[in-house]
Amino acid sequence: MNNFEFKNPTKILFGKGEIEKLSSEIPQKSKVMMLYGGGSIKRNGIYEQVTKALLGFNLIEFGGIPPNPEYEILMGALEVIKEEKVDFLLAVGGGSVIDGTKFLSAAAFFEGDNPWDLLTQGKAIKKGMPYGAVLTLPATGSEMNSGLVITRKETKEKLSTGGPALFPQFSILDPEVVKSIPQHHLANGITDAFTHVLEQYMTYPMGALLQDRFAESILQTLIEVAPVIMKDPSDYNAAANFMWSCTMALNGLINKGVPEDWTVHLMGHELTAIFGIDHARTLAILAPSHYRYNFETKKAKLAQYAERVWNVTEGNEEEKAKAGIEKTEEFFHSLDIKTKLSEYTDDYSGTAENISKRFSERNWTGLGEHQSLKPEDVEKIIEMSY
Ligand code: NZQ
Ligand code: ZN
Repeated sequence: MNNFEFKNPTKILFGKGEIEKLSSEIPQKSKVMMLYGGGSIKRNGIYEQVTKALLGFNLIEFGGIPPNPEYEILMGALEVIKEEKVDFLLAVGGGSVIDGTKFLSAAAFFEGDNPWDLLTQGKAIKKGMPYGAVLTLPATGSEMNSGLVITRKETKEKLSTGGPALFPQFSILDPEVVKSIPQHHLANGITDAFTHVLEQYMTYPMGALLQDRFAESILQTLIEVAPVIMKDPSDYNAAANFMWSCTMALNGLINKGVPEDWTVHLMGHELTAIFGIDHARTLAILAPSHYRYNFETKKAKLAQYAERVWNVTEGNEEEKAKAGIEKTEEFFHSLDIKTKLSEYTDDYSGTAENISKRFSERNWTGLGEHQSLKPEDVEKIIEMSY
């Protein structure tokens, strides 16, 4: 097992009715800006619960953060934060609203001229305005991690950054919010969290027994609750297990001391930036090809995954590994998620070349758990995903 340091300072308040406790988590004298998305919270009662819990606070609002939070829109919020001397941010939403809020937390204390530099300078962010979150959509794990992803429409870029200052102070996880989520977004959430685990697991066996079993248990739990939640999102117990699995999939626990490979996410962000395909769906398009292309280096772990997660008992290591990839694809299909780029757009010709060129320009030349994947490999993997 590799050496590691582990610190996660986010306080989690989990369960029914926990939103009522908001007022005890935010300093009383704060000037609070509540941030939200396109309005789902006004239709499902969450807006009402939050504003009721914050009666008496000096509260302003900023709504309209779109999925794949958009830089220009966030810059509008930043102006208000400065004008109104806001000193506490509250994200009420899914990954996009939380990531947008994280970006604002960093941008509010940024000393340069252009906050976009936060995403390109490759430095960990060490200063941020305090913020909390009320999660409305289990998926990204953003509610308990320090990473963020921001999109810039004008240049079709989608970039990530993060740093120790950007963990939420607290996140409220009330599984009752799940009942209002449309099927399409439930499927996305399951797929995103499932792939987060794979990115931290599908490398090579290295004797980290507990980390492997943490990862496998999250995958198994997602597989177990997926059909229940897709059929009936108001099943509280399934919703609670789904929500906690998504958080645990990317809160910095399961990757401790083990190699990781985030290439599927890096490639996926480009597909979202270029075509606007939902984040989770880009992962389902790319992951099977990534594992097929890197079969030799990943087959031992793929076989372990097939055995332990999917109960594949027949065949040698190679056959089990192949079955593992097929089971993954079948799982995505069971959620009505398509796994080929051509099923999302007719305009895909040249995409692989274009993305590989972007990777070269950014000097992303040593990806994967062995830092061996080059832009030429990325091009082939994307071509295999057409
Ligand atoms: O905008 P509103 O009207 O609120 O509607 C949202 C949005 O349209 C809707 N929704 C959310 N909660 C709902 C609901 N509808 C009904 N009832 C509810 N309770 O769902 C739609 C999608 O929301 P969004 O926040 O975009 O989804 P998600 O949580 O999947 O976030 C995706 C973003 O997170 C980034 C992605 O790249 C993408 O930009 N990621 C962030 C990560 C992180 N910070 O660690 C890791 C991930 O890998 C990912 O890259
Ligand atoms: Zn993701």
